[in-house]
Amino acid sequence: MGTTIKCIGILTSGGDAPGMNAAIRAVTRAAIYNGLSVKGIYRGYKGLVTGEIKEFKSQNVSNIIQQGGTILKTARCKEFMTPEGRQLAYDNMKKEGIDALVVIGGDGSLSGARIFAQEFDVPCIGLPGTIDNDLYGTDTTIGYDTALNTIIDAVDKIRDTATSHERLFFVEVMGRDAGFLALNGAIASGAEAAIIPEDSTDVDQLEEFIKNGFRKSKSSSIVLVAESGKTGGAMHYAERVKNEYPQYDVRVTILGHLQRGGSPTAHDRILASRLGAAAIDAIMEGQRNVMVGIENDQVVYVPFAKAIKNDKPINRELVNVLRELSI
Ligand code: F6P
Repeated sequence: MGTTIKCIGILTSGGDAPGMNAAIRAVTRAAIYNGLSVKGIYRGYKGLVTGEIKEFKSQNVSNIIQQGGTILKTARCKEFMTPEGRQLAYDNMKKEGIDALVVIGGDGSLSGARIFAQEFDVPCIGLPGTIDNDLYGTDTTIGYDTALNTIIDAVDKIRDTATSHERLFFVEVMGRDAGFLALNGAIASGAEAAIIPEDSTDVDQLEEFIKNGFRKSKSSSIVLVAESGKTGGAMHYAERVKNEYPQYDVRVTILGHLQRGGSPTAHDRILASRLGAAAIDAIMEGQRNVMVGIENDQVVYVPFAKAIKNDKPINRELVNVLRELSI
């Protein structure tokens, strides 16, 4: 399949993630390399609705591969959720001569791209950009590895004070309704347990942790809690322990938005670079309405519907590894 596409628009949407800039750079440079022109759309879909669009040359993306955040800014745009807003977005796209869109973001952003593509028959390519790692069809998402490294840096520091005071810490991490950051953050920081939404329906994870010998052989413990409403968050577990086990000295740390910042790791820079180049390959091949992912080190194209709707499963082996190694 060939393509008649001459100009692509690129935007970042939803929560920012380290490596988004590396992806913007890769998409821009790969597009120019392949003879396409590029327009940067500011503030996510909002910029498409309001026409905040600027031509991008190779030098517009110089010196950004190492920067966290997104030079295009980002937003969660309510207007784009309405048919009127999307019509304005389409009109601006046509006015600017943009033939196809590359959207970098999480599942909300890709859902927006999916609807837009269906309504106006516009080719859209999605790149998975979120620290949550909750998109199906890619082993990891852009920003996830950096956020994990930020978490382990923080937990290493918390462990110093937890050990000195012989305390039990509940550390809340982001991830929306996914437990990837909590589970892998717990393994990588040597935490005693992780409380994740994927497990919350069938077991009382706090009871499990206590039953399995919490603080029997250790004078301090760290439990990572996914922020999800399904787990109730770190405060919920701290309150429970204070009431049910008043002998323990409990503290809570909520890591919050510091998990979203910082210079991307080598993994995220390489992932973003590969995905950005692959997005342009996809466009040149005439692909449309797919997310580009990497599975088993191979580039894959995943239909939006599959990437968004399928719950990405937690690897149960990791749950067992954490349990075995935290004795
Ligand atoms: O989706 C990324 C994410 O950081 C989630 O982990 C978190 O729940 C959410 O965004 C926070 O969003 P906001 O920055 O709008 O508060």
